[in-house]
Amino acid sequence: MSKEQLATMAKEAMERAYSPYSGYKVGAALLCKDGSVYTGCNVENASFSATNCAERTAFFKAVSEGKKEFAAIAVCGGKDGVIEGLFPPCGVCRQVMREFCADDFEIHLLKSDGIETYTLEQLLPVSFRPENLHE
Ligand code: THU
Repeated sequence: MSKEQLATMAKEAMERAYSPYSGYKVGAALLCKDGSVYTGCNVENASFSATNCAERTAFFKAVSEGKKEFAAIAVCGGKDGVIEGLFPPCGVCRQVMREFCADDFEIHLLKSDGIETYTLEQLLPVSFRPENLHE
């Protein structure tokens, strides 16, 4: 699957955002190494802290279906679903990626005029990872 196809799925997921409080819609499409894709949107809550980001929604859907090997994720977001600049993953979502993904996991960030791609190593250097609990 191309990054453009994954981006299209992220945009579709963004439309399903539940974000009555912030008005920001965020979508993610997570590509597993077996070729399957799990999408996610942000799901907000009146208690605010119970909000789940789009990226984690996608990861938790995938892991709960038995997937643990991931190749890439596409992410987009913006106020009222209008994509302008990048909408980069928050620190908590990066840490969830760290749990399951290698340094070369690709993170495709959509903007109005294209896609910027980063690796997990670039977005979360010198990170705390599962191996730190086994050394
Ligand atoms: N949000 C995400 O879905 N992913 C991120 O990585 C950053 C933030 C959502 C949470 C909240 O619903 C809205 O964006 C504004 O913070």
